[in-house]
Amino acid sequence: MDIESLTKLFAHDLAGAGSEADLRGLRDKYLSRKNGLISAFLKAVATAPQDDRPALGQAANQLKRHIDFTLIAHLSQMSANRPAVDAIDVTLPGRPPLLGHRHPLTILRERLESIFLRMGFLIVEGPELEDDYHNFEALNMPAEHPARDMQDTLYLASPVPARGGGRPATLLRTHTSGMQIRYMETHRPPIRLIAPGRVYRRDGLDLTHSPMFTQVEGLVVGEDVTLADLKGTLVAFARELFGPERKTRFRPSFFPYTEPSGELDISCASCRGSGCGMCKQTGWIEVLGSGMVHPAVFEAVGYDPETYTGFAFGVGVERLALLKWGIEDIRLFYDNDLRFLEQFPL
Ligand code: DAH
Repeated sequence: MDIESLTKLFAHDLAGAGSEADLRGLRDKYLSRKNGLISAFLKAVATAPQDDRPALGQAANQLKRHIDFTLIAHLSQMSANRPAVDAIDVTLPGRPPLLGHRHPLTILRERLESIFLRMGFLIVEGPELEDDYHNFEALNMPAEHPARDMQDTLYLASPVPARGGGRPATLLRTHTSGMQIRYMETHRPPIRLIAPGRVYRRDGLDLTHSPMFTQVEGLVVGEDVTLADLKGTLVAFARELFGPERKTRFRPSFFPYTEPSGELDISCASCRGSGCGMCKQTGWIEVLGSGMVHPAVFEAVGYDPETYTGFAFGVGVERLALLKWGIEDIRLFYDNDLRFLEQFPL
C-alpha cells in the first residue's frame, strides 16, 4: 500500500471512530511497532530501490506523526466532552455548611434570664418530678383546697395525696412555684431568684395549650420587701422585653400562695389598646401571675412572717413568645419544622 492510500484509509477509519476505544484501536492498527501499518510500510521501504528509500521513509514518518497527533487531539477532545463524574470544578461557588439554630423558646428563656440576672437575681433549677407537698400543700393548697382543681395534674404513683402517713404522691410539677418551697427550705433570706423549667398539665394539644410547657418562677424575700418592689420589678421586666411603648397595668387576682395577688397585663400590640380579637376586645393582654408571699407559705418553710415579707411571680415562656412574636399556634414550638424555627435570630 502506498502513502496516499494509507493516508486515505486513515482518514476513512478516523471518520468512523465513535469512541475512545475506537481511537485506541486505530493507534494499534497504524502505529503498533510490531504489526502496525506504518511499521509494515517502513519494512517494505527497505526492499524499495535505493534512490526511492529516503523520500519514502520521510513520507512514512510524516504520516506517522500526522496519525499520532490526530489521534491524540481526537482523544483529548472526546474525554473533555465526557460527563466529568470524577472531576472537581474548583470554580463552582461553595456550598455553605448548614448552621444550627437555637430554639425560639431557648432564645426567649435566655432573654428572660439575662434581664433578671442584671437585676441581681440568682437562677436555680429543680426537679420536674415533684411531690404533692412541694407542688400544693406547702403552697397553702391543702388536699381539700378548691384551687387544686385549677390545675389538672399528671400523677405518677398514687393519686392519693400524702395525708395521715399515706404514701406520698409523685407527680409531674404543674407549675414552678414548688421551687419557692424547695429553695426556702434550704436557705435563709435575703432571697432573689428565678427558677425556669418545664411544667406539665393534663391538657390536650391545641392552639393555646400543651401538656408540657415552660415557666419561669420568681421569688424575692427580705425584711422589707413591698408591693412597690413587686410592681417596679415586673414593670421593668415587661418594658425590657416588650419595649417601652407598651403600657402595663396591674389587676387584682387570686392565688392561694400570695396575698394580695395580682396579674400583670400589657397593652395589646395589634389594636394599640382600642380592642380587637387578640385581646378579647379589652385592649389588654395578661402576661403573668404574681403577689406578696402568703404568711402560710413562710410558716411552711419555717420563716417568721412577722420578720420577712416577699413577692413571687410565675410567667409562661410559650405565652410570652406568642405575644412577643405574634405567633398564633403554640404547637409550632414543638413541631420541629425548620422553616419556622430558623426565623428567630438572636
Ligand atoms: N403558679 C402560677 C401558674 O402556674 C403562676 C404564679 C402566680 C406564680 C402567682 C407565682 C405567683 O409565684 O405568685 O399559673
